[in-house]
Amino acid sequence: NGFGGGSSALVALAELTNGTGLPSRTMVTIAISIFIGSLTLSGSFIAFGKLQGIIDGRAITMPGQRILDPLLAIGALAAAVAIVSSDNNATGWILAAVAGVLGVTRTLPIGGADMPVVISFLNSASGVAAAAAGFVIESNALIISGALVGASGLILTNIMVKAMNRTLGAVLFSAFGASGDAAIGAGSEDKVARRGSPDDIAVTLAYAKRVVIVPGYGLAVAQAQHTIRELASLLESRGVEVRYAIHPVAGRMPGHMNVLLAEADVPYDLLFDLEDINPDFPSTDVSLVVGANDVVNPLARTDSTSPIYGMPILDVDRSHLVVVVKRSLSPGYAGIDNPLFYEDNTLMLFADAKKGLSEVVTAVKEL
Ligand code: TAP
Repeated sequence: NGFGGGSSALVALAELTNGTGLPSRTMVTIAISIFIGSLTLSGSFIAFGKLQGIIDGRAITMPGQRILDPLLAIGALAAAVAIVSSDNNATGWILAAVAGVLGVTRTLPIGGADMPVVISFLNSASGVAAAAAGFVIESNALIISGALVGASGLILTNIMVKAMNRTLGAVLFSAFGASGDAAIGAGSEDKVARRGSPDDIAVTLAYAKRVVIVPGYGLAVAQAQHTIRELASLLESRGVEVRYAIHPVAGRMPGHMNVLLAEADVPYDLLFDLEDINPDFPSTDVSLVVGANDVVNPLARTDSTSPIYGMPILDVDRSHLVVVVKRSLSPGYAGIDNPLFYEDNTLMLFADAKKGLSEVVTAVKEL
């Protein structure tokens, strides 16, 4: 994604260097392409570093940033005006450098659960940069494909922002993921999570009427999609109704869970979006949460100090029984404890998702 933005900036810089007597409308698109392309390149590298754990995934703020960022924005605007008015090659590189720094300083303060939105936004920006580069070199293919990427990325960003009950402005200009540490361990000191064995869980699932499977990031890590499908098929053959609840930001990429389950040939009509499945949890016998954490954290509903407060969650705690398959009580991406694990109606299966589910499959087969 970042290299897409970088390429658009380079195309515009090349045109600025080689072209003479370019009309001012071309100069405007050159400035836009350099600015957005360069910002996308550096911003995407920071986002990549955060997702890979190379850089701290939480919001990182620097002293004086409130002054530095507006100064950089003014510097970028001045360089853009200089490009359009003076046809000066050097200002193109100055604009690229300033936008590159702005990409870093604007992405670093975004962290935790806001990262998916930023990634989607940067994706959209790379499309806009490509479309602008298309105007520069008069390539209809680049204009159309860039506009498609830009528009679809913006639509996806909007869907994700709504799913998290946020606004794009709040994501880009406040440090949502920053306060995660404050909540680590909160409320869990005197509570004990109830463990279930694969045998217990097999019985619970096999004799249930309605089961909802909630996949999360851990399912992807464990590559347990085929095992979950096998378990679901076994349950279905025993007359259990099995459905899957998909949270819009479950996993680490938009559509992560959909792709994973499609890989295991889970029928698409068994996948339900958050708003469609949430009313059904009170009539669900067992919610089977596999490697998901933040997307089922009830603190999002109840604790206004929580960094995920206001994000819609899958209301699994409202079902009769919740089974959670994960390796430990460790927090998820947002870095906060999850009171769901200590609820009276929750059973924990501490295991790698693939290994744990395989044991449950074996136990169901033996019933
Ligand atoms: P998370 O809240 O990140 O929780 C994942 C859980 O999986 C962890 O608590 C971990 O617990 C468990 N896990 C890891 N490896 C496992 C394994 N091999 N077997 C079993 N469990 C394993 O995941 P989520 O509920 O899917 O929520 C997604 C989070 O990521 C949200 O905060 C979201 O904002 C953020 N995010 C999403 C995206 C997109 S677009 N989807 C992009 C970036 C960030 P243990 O260590 O105890 O096993």
